Amino acid sequence: MSLMNWTDSLSVNIREIDDQHKKLVGILNELHDAMKAGQGAKMTGNVLTELIKYVGTHFATEEKYFAQYAYPDTVKHKAEHDDLTKKALDLQKQFQDGKPVLTVELLNFLKNWLTNHIMGTDKKYSPYLNSKGLV
Ligand SMILES: [Fe+2]
Ligand SMILES: [Fe+2]
Repeated sequence: MSLMNWTDSLSVNIREIDDQHKKLVGILNELHDAMKAGQGAKMTGNVLTELIKYVGTHFATEEKYFAQYAYPDTVKHKAEHDDLTKKALDLQKQFQDGKPVLTVELLNFLKNWLTNHIMGTDKKYSPYLNSKGLV
């Protein structure tokens, strides 16, 4: 069973962003599967690296649109991105140092963060960006 499923309630009404969010959910599920299958640290580490890399790509996309369309809530939104990025890089470092960081709690944290951020913070930009023609 997947850790997290995409549903329409996660949609921000912008196709490119929805596709990126779907991909993030997909990689998070891969990480969950790798852990559950007891796959080696190398394999799990690769998925963790992929997740962190794609989180960076995704945040950069949203922030590019914030700049392009002068989104008024940019500073607060970006602070949430920066906070998660910092946590994720710290986590990766611990993992690389051989610490057992990949736990059910961690996966639940990532799942909850993603869900809450999309539903609480990302969705706030939909009306504004839609009104600028971004759909
Ligand atoms: Fe997002
Ligand atoms: Fe965001």
